[in-house]
Parts: sequence; structure tokens; C-alpha cells
Amino acid sequence: MPIITNIEDLRILHQKRAPKMFYDYADSGSWTETTYRANEADFQKIKFRQRVAVNMENRTTQTTMIGETVAMPVALAPTGLTGMQYADGEILAARAAEKFGVPFCLSTMSICSIEEVAKHTTKPFWFQLYVMKDRDFIERLIERARAASCSALVLTLDLQILGQRHKDLKNGLSAPPKLTIANIINMMTKPSWCLGMAQTPRRNFGNIVGHASGVGNMASLSSWTAEQFDPGLSWDDVAWIKKRWGGKLIIKGILDVEDARLAVNSGADALIVSNHGGRQLDHAVSSIHALPAIVEAVGKEIEVWVDGGIRSGQDVLKAWALGARGTMIGRAFLYGLGAMGEAGVTKCLEIIHRELDLSMAFTGHRDIHKVTKDILYPGTY
Ligand code: GLV
Repeated sequence: MPIITNIEDLRILHQKRAPKMFYDYADSGSWTETTYRANEADFQKIKFRQRVAVNMENRTTQTTMIGETVAMPVALAPTGLTGMQYADGEILAARAAEKFGVPFCLSTMSICSIEEVAKHTTKPFWFQLYVMKDRDFIERLIERARAASCSALVLTLDLQILGQRHKDLKNGLSAPPKLTIANIINMMTKPSWCLGMAQTPRRNFGNIVGHASGVGNMASLSSWTAEQFDPGLSWDDVAWIKKRWGGKLIIKGILDVEDARLAVNSGADALIVSNHGGRQLDHAVSSIHALPAIVEAVGKEIEVWVDGGIRSGQDVLKAWALGARGTMIGRAFLYGLGAMGEAGVTKCLEIIHRELDLSMAFTGHRDIHKVTKDILYPGTY
């Protein structure tokens, strides 16, 4: 086994181990992938101020996100088809997160169901909701999240229609994969993935198959979104969902100050500055670029978090310095999962935590709560 020291090491292993269709699904953005690339590239432009001869003993990155204690301001983002990157992927990632002390958020479009993740974990996790036309189904999903003791609902507002990702169309993405010649040839080069998949019954959309009807092709994310997701979604629906859920509500997919204001008005507990990992509106600004103005406008009224492009603890520190009180990682943990299952997600969290902790020390701080914009080099953010 190679020595893993950073998230890129995990990405390379993920690419080797998982079938092309699923690796590509995780590692792609929409159309020209300009926004997908900008999410990472814009983090690189921000520079730190190095400080020296400052006491670095007894450091802490512990804080809270929506009142929940977290070992560092990082949560695992909801990602579709996670159980296709590695057998039982959602269960494994949730377990790694709970052991590490960070939140795990389950996607509506997961492979393992809400009930299965709840059965295999001991702490409450968060559930991400997509709003579909079938409101009875949404009511039942909300009830299921409640019955599983989920501690927050993460409502995604930026994917009522699906941005085009060229690779998914070319690969014929589906869960489970269709047994075409190309897929069979590719899967023959992924023996440990195949072995894992052969040993689990969880191979399709667990929250949906058997719980919803009226969709032509249950295995296809694109047919689901096209046939079921509600393109008429409005802030009135957000109010309806908030009322039905009655618990902590997090709004995901805010990139504009005006929408941030509406999110505050909706009574949500947190908002996530996000462009869906560059997978929806190509040529939208990067998340880290959009963050400061949103923090400035509403940061005193609501917890503002950010996701998109975070591949290191340094990125987490920059986001925190710019006012994010939490971050979410999607691809970074998927690389770990796809590489090595639960141990890979743990590795990802350890890498990010160590990078965050050491970089914080190099900027002259021992407690993340003391970190402000002051740690950033003027003119670079
Ligand atoms: C769904 O959430 C996706 O981005 O593919």
C-alpha cells in the first residue's frame, strides 16, 4: 500500500479502484467545468500571513455547527450514489464521521437508505432533501428522517433540473451499472470493487426504490431528476417543508446575496454557500469567491457555511478566516471512500484535520475561534 499523505493520493487510488462511470460521476462538473475548476483554483490564490515566535501549544479546532460540537468545522456533504463508489459507502462514511466527531449528511440519492444508515450508526446524522413533484413521497421522506432521529434537514435548492455533465451521458451512468460490453470490460479491471458489490444487497437508490412510483427508469439519476424533481420549487415550498419538519433546517446552494437574504427570511438555521461543486451552473462564481459578500450581508443573522473546492485543511482555514462557520467536503471524502472504504474516509479526515491544525499554528493561533481575516495576506482575498 502506498504511503498516503494528502487528498490527491486518495483521489488517485479511488480512480484506480472504482469503475470509470462512478469515479467520473464524482469527479466532474457541468459543461466546460469552468466553475468546478474555479472552486479549487480560487482557494489557491488566497495566501496566509506567516507569524513566528508565537506559542503553539495546546491547539484546538473544535467548534459547533448548528449547535452540534464538531472536532473541526467540516461536515461530510451529501453526495449521490456514494454506495457505488464503494460497497455500503454511506454506512462506512457515516461511521468514519461519527468516530471522528464530524457530521455526516445523507443524500436523498444515496444507495444505502436512511433506515440502513441509522441502523449501522449510533449518533444522529443529517438528511439532505430534494423536493420532488410527489409531495406525499416528500412527506414520507421527512417522516422517515424524523423516525431515524436525523438531527437536521439539509434542503438543496440548486438542483431542480440537472446541469449537463458530459461524462455521465457518455458513460451511461446508472445504479446498478448496466451490463454493457464496455462496462463489463471496465469492471473486470476493478476486482475488489466487484467483490464488495457482490457481497452487499445495496445496489440501487435505497431511499427511493420500493418507496416511490411513476418513474420510467429507477436506476438512472437523470431520469429521476427529469421526471420527479419539481422545477416549480419556490420559497413557499421551503416554508412548507420547514413547517412539516419542525427541526433544524439548513439551506444548501446559495451563491447570491439576494438569495442569502431570502434564506434568512425563511427562518433556516444555516445556509451553505455552494454551486453544487461546479455541477450545475457552469461559469457561476466559485464558492469561496461568493462567500465574503454573503457573510457581510447575513453572517450576523445566520450561520454561513461553504462547500466547493475544499481539498485541504488549508482550504478549511481560509474559508473560516473569510467568515464561514462551517465547511462541507464532498469529493475529498469520496476519494478516501473510493480508495479504501471507511479507513479511507478516516484518512481523509485525519489529513484535513492535521493540515488545518498545523496551518493555524503557523498563522499564530491556537484556537480556531481566534482566527479572523487577519491571518490572510492583504490583497490576496
Ligand atoms: C446530485 O446531487 C449530483 O450533483 O449529481
